[in-house]
Amino acid sequence: MKRQLEEEISVVTSRLSSCRKLVVLTGAGVSRESGIPTFREAQTGLWANCDPERLATPQGFLADPALVWQWYDSRRKMLSTVKPNPGHYALVELEKLVGSFVIVTQNVDGLHALAGSSDVIELHGSMKRFRCFDANHPVDDVPVGLLEPPKCQCGSMLRPDVIWFGEALPEHALKRATEEFQGADIAFVVGTSGLVQPAASLPHLAKHNGAFVVEINPETTPITDIADVFLGGPAGTILHQVAGSFLKAQTKV
Ligand code: OAD
Repeated sequence: MKRQLEEEISVVTSRLSSCRKLVVLTGAGVSRESGIPTFREAQTGLWANCDPERLATPQGFLADPALVWQWYDSRRKMLSTVKPNPGHYALVELEKLVGSFVIVTQNVDGLHALAGSSDVIELHGSMKRFRCFDANHPVDDVPVGLLEPPKCQCGSMLRPDVIWFGEALPEHALKRATEEFQGADIAFVVGTSGLVQPAASLPHLAKHNGAFVVEINPETTPITDIADVFLGGPAGTILHQVAGSFLKAQTKV
């Protein structure tokens, strides 16, 4: 471990020892080491090769429901082959060590819950759930491999229960995420480009209310400016080191 990184992790560890409420905002980067592509990375990012207007808007879905359905279906198939990585598991360990802990994720892959995190607010929904386009009736257990969206009992087409561009976030999820960030004394920001609102505002809210902000990302982002500590590197490695260092400090006491 580089000396500077080691020192920065020990600053974070010492803050964690008096932490009342830790909130964690995650983005696609936390699942990168599980093999899931991010959205905006050059070449490998999903939006580098696919058009979000066609695949992630209500208009795109209405224009070509089968195309959108098959794109999400292939991503859902891929989910059955991936596993949480050491970053997801390190967050499970941190949850056990800190009084109050919540994850607010922009990811729709369900990997935090699969790893064992018990309180995950899904701001952008989940690829594993479905609802109908017209009335939002929830529908479970849609088989993979269908070439077109099946119908709800009400006759409307089913769609994945994710938030598309131009759509509002689920009200209760956003309200709770806002309250959690307002009340946090430490906020981790992990693997997000900080470009998509309203999620990108949450760390600012925490900072404004006096929280200590820690960013974990191999690259700097617009959030780096307000971070008290920037831990540059992949989430799997860095979060594992943070949780390990905190656990060591706790067991010494
Ligand atoms: P982005 O693709 O915009 O950003 C991914 C971030 O992860 C970048 O800052 C990378 O530097 C970072 N990253 C890459 N590998 C990493 C690693 N191993 N560990 C940690 N960080 C790593 O993804 P999001 O910020 O999540 O919305 O994107 C936000 C929203 O935009 C998504 O939820 C999605 C997308 O359009 C919807 O679909 C509504």
